[in-house]
Amino acid sequence: RPKDVGILAMEMYFPRRCISEEELEEFDGVSKGKYTIGLGQKYMACCDDREDINSFLLTAVHNLLEKYDIDPTSIGRIDVGTETAVDLSKASKTFLMDLFAAAGNTDVEGVDSKNACYGSTAALFNAVNWVESSSWDGRNALVVCGDIAIYAEGSGRPSGGAGACAMLIGPNAPLAVEPIRGTHMVHAYDFYKPKLDSEYPEVDGPLSITSYISAVDASYAAFRKKHAKAKKVASLNGAGEASLAAFSLADVDYPVFHSPYGKMVQKAHARLVYNDFLANPAHPKYAAVANPAALLAQPHKESLLDKTLEKTFMAVAKTDFDTRVEASMKCARRCGNMYTASLYGGLSSLVASVEPAELLGKRISMFAYGSGIASSFFTIKVKGDTSAIRANLDLVNRLAAIKVVPCQEYVDSLKLREEHHLLKSWTPAGSVDNIWPGAYYLEEVDGKYRRKYARAP
Ligand code: CAA
Repeated sequence: RPKDVGILAMEMYFPRRCISEEELEEFDGVSKGKYTIGLGQKYMACCDDREDINSFLLTAVHNLLEKYDIDPTSIGRIDVGTETAVDLSKASKTFLMDLFAAAGNTDVEGVDSKNACYGSTAALFNAVNWVESSSWDGRNALVVCGDIAIYAEGSGRPSGGAGACAMLIGPNAPLAVEPIRGTHMVHAYDFYKPKLDSEYPEVDGPLSITSYISAVDASYAAFRKKHAKAKKVASLNGAGEASLAAFSLADVDYPVFHSPYGKMVQKAHARLVYNDFLANPAHPKYAAVANPAALLAQPHKESLLDKTLEKTFMAVAKTDFDTRVEASMKCARRCGNMYTASLYGGLSSLVASVEPAELLGKRISMFAYGSGIASSFFTIKVKGDTSAIRANLDLVNRLAAIKVVPCQEYVDSLKLREEHHLLKSWTPAGSVDNIWPGAYYLEEVDGKYRRKYARAP
């Protein structure tokens, strides 16, 4: 049986342009601090009609293969996660096959997984499961995810962004995916895309926030229950049941979260701390929590809307956030929401931020959230040297090299996307100068809606 199946290599892709959220506040005429403090946003990536999800994913995979000198015939499975697909039938995975079929490799399992931002985690679980299964043919897998997160004019727009991630999956990985997963899936209309004539989602903002937080609670509880069962931990109350108190944030070195916007991650982390408090309220680290008895008695539904509770635990969690979570926010701070790639942008930010010797042996928790709702809490153990991933990502330099452009350019770019969305017979109007050298871009869409891609010089 293959051991330590997980992430062997990572590559991130993001557009060449971004806008400043501080400038956007002024541009939109909203109160100062609304996006930068209220949402915790700094910048968000910008792309026009020259790019689509297939060009994003082609670049991410091409660069991964090139940087790590991966033989295309050594890949036996590709799982894609995206919610920006441009075809209701043809998977984005099939576009990636050009990179493998050219080397004579068409024996590649896997297609696309879709559920808002969760598709990437479904893809990762599929790839890991394949390598661990009796169907495994001994080759590595790829997980590829990415999205263009854009919103209609209004309160959702500042929480946009874009980006993609490609990961090589196989045994003896430095970032080994541990076996326990806590999952919470229910039906909700918090964020969804029912329109064929627009890329913009329908969003129930307040519901999306409480849905995210209740998914933190439920997937964390499911994880802890399974963890306790696996470890056969005796109950604290002596009743012989497995104890939920057995696993806490103290067992994690770096918590990483899906990041729709910065403040949501702060809220989610604080919520994990609140969950730990509920399991072990007497711990001295909660000494500053006022009226703990009332919090312990509060019904779950009420707790989701309790702003005082939220503020209390954000304050309790602040130092921990700064020391253990902020390191995973580099991509989110520069590119905004990448939907499916957001969580893995968080992981790559962490790998890029923490010295490999420091990271070795550490446990990373991952909270995946896709509206609709699909969510999971799982962990990754750093079992090996992450130097090569860190060097190949070169994330700090590459994020800094993204050009900050005026907000009007962002609005104009979205206009181009709106005008051309799913038309036939058109040539993108966006300039190829806005594409990174060597990256793929959309060259044309022909009279039968067929998309043709080229690479920038
Ligand atoms: N200075 C400082 N703070 C300010 C401010 C100012 N001038 N103006 C407002 N704020 C604060 C508010 O007090 C509020 O703080 P709290 O969160 O602590 O309550 C915060 O800014 C947000 O303000 P509003 O409550 O007025 O909300 P909004 O109208 O700005 O909308 C949003 C926020 C609902 C998140 C909206 O941006 C949106 O719909 N985004 C898309 C949906 C989304 O990202 N949801 C997150 C969970 S769903 C998910 O995770 C999936 C996904 O990727 C989309």
